[in-house]
Amino acid sequence: MSDDVTPGADAAPETGKPGTTRRTVLCGAGAAGAVAALAACGPKDNTGAKPASDLRGTEIVKAADVPVGGGKIDKATKLVVTQPTAGQYRAFDATCTHQGCLTDRVTGGLIQCPCHGSEFRVADGTVARGPAKKKLTEYPVQLKGDGIVVA
Ligand code: FES
Repeated sequence: MSDDVTPGADAAPETGKPGTTRRTVLCGAGAAGAVAALAACGPKDNTGAKPASDLRGTEIVKAADVPVGGGKIDKATKLVVTQPTAGQYRAFDATCTHQGCLTDRVTGGLIQCPCHGSEFRVADGTVARGPAKKKLTEYPVQLKGDGIVVA
């Protein structure tokens, strides 16, 4: 259900190039077929996370899967759970506040968006690098058993 996010991993799985995905390669390919390509170069996913009330009680990830100083993105809930310091868990809407792409990696203490390079701090979801200007929306969570659950 969840994607593995390893601190220090910096290669995009689709191309193997840091910060590059098949999507960014295709979208930067030029003007040929530009009209058709425009729709494909918009946000990958702009639906955002479900309202917190819909997720209350939902286990997002297992606590053991969230590295200290890093995080884990769950595509099903579109939330990213972070552990800024040992035993302290936080959760944020994984949808980028720039144009709505789903963030896809957590590396070096930053939640990263593949579309235009925005980065958000795992500690509080604030913007470390634009073009995004607004922080990620935080969701209250608690440790319940071995899972991180929306409170
Ligand atoms: S959608 Fe543009 S940086 Fe995320």
